[in-house]
Amino acid sequence: MPKIINVNGRQVFDSRGIPTIETEIHLDDGHYASAIVPSGASTGTYEAHELRDKENKDFLGKSVLKSVKNVNTEISKEIKNFDIFDQKKIDQVLIDLDGTKQKKRLGANSILSVSIAACKVAAVSKNISLYKYLSNSKKNSLPYPLMNIINGGAHANNTLRIQEFMIRPDKAKSFSEAVKICFLVIQKLKFLMNSKNLSTTVGDEGGFAPSLKNNEQAIEFILEAIDKAGFKTGKDVCICLDVASNELFKEGKYAVNNSNFENSKKTIEYYFNLISKYPIKSIEDPFSENDWISWSEFNKLIKSKKKNIQIVGDDLFVTNKERLSKGIKEKAANAILIKPNQIGTISETLEVINLAHKNKYNSIISHRSGDSEDTFIADLSVATNSSQIKTGSLSRSERVAKYNRLLKIEEELGKNVKMASI
Ligand code: PGA
Ligand code: ZN
Repeated sequence: MPKIINVNGRQVFDSRGIPTIETEIHLDDGHYASAIVPSGASTGTYEAHELRDKENKDFLGKSVLKSVKNVNTEISKEIKNFDIFDQKKIDQVLIDLDGTKQKKRLGANSILSVSIAACKVAAVSKNISLYKYLSNSKKNSLPYPLMNIINGGAHANNTLRIQEFMIRPDKAKSFSEAVKICFLVIQKLKFLMNSKNLSTTVGDEGGFAPSLKNNEQAIEFILEAIDKAGFKTGKDVCICLDVASNELFKEGKYAVNNSNFENSKKTIEYYFNLISKYPIKSIEDPFSENDWISWSEFNKLIKSKKKNIQIVGDDLFVTNKERLSKGIKEKAANAILIKPNQIGTISETLEVINLAHKNKYNSIISHRSGDSEDTFIADLSVATNSSQIKTGSLSRSERVAKYNRLLKIEEELGKNVKMASI
């Protein structure tokens, strides 16, 4: 069995120009691989801890030099000579070495960089694709992309309240067709925005970030673009939203519609009207991370009205098994967003996905707003047969890199590979 001989962390930069950590692992068989961890802007309170040098003003408190040091000293010493194919053991040792619930001591960013680099180098050493190494099923499907084509909230400096306005090309029979449909809609949207003298500069996740009046105007622009691109709204291409409502929540009330804070009953009404009026098929984080009651009420309402809506927990579940279990028990949602850096190791990430699938929850593998050229999540989405992947618009190399990787995987899997069922 190939063994780890060297673990080397370094500080690099993410797509927003903010420091992050990259770790490289070398094996005694000569193989090596590296991983860069992403970082969020609208982060949930229950996420694993991202270690930054708050007191070091050289990088305005944002450097990750402590995290790098942890990898190069404690972690490196501990996992040297480990069998690279025993991912579970590597991850467990990292968890135990940290010893805290939210990975506060060593930092979830330090730990995850090692965990992902270990998976990658193991696949390289076996000379197989990463998704094959990570997968325990014989047949793999490709995920539907959720492309975030208009950015608002914490990802843009416009006044749009909802953070992400996404499209999902339900009509697509292959991943390449899915990307083509999104491409056509995005190009039409750009044309429409230009013709109305709206800015076509992009936000953190590559979607346009125009100054629009309200959420409805953003949705209507997208619907017009879908129509003008020659597709049927709702049938060929639907709309998916990420409200990221933690950011819009104060003292039990939400300011989703406009800047006025409304109680959760009114907010539920607002969402219900929105999904009745527009072909919206998915809503992420409609309520805050502690407001379990509103989540359950909304889910109950959706079911009783026989609306086929995906309700996605991101900040609610934070890729955490205990929080997902609570959500399953309380019937809070029917899908989970999966962000490996919310939990900190790949073994724990895979466990959460299994739990979700066992309970008929959809899993959506996700990037972060601060991301990089690392395409690990593309392989993860195929390995786990996740129904969707959320990795921004068809713009900005760190977003497109994941789509390009999936196109390669599609080619490798050959003609018979199917899209996941949604
Ligand atoms: P984040 O945004 O990476 O800034 O948290 C992505 C999301 O909320 O899904
Ligand atoms: Zn989200």
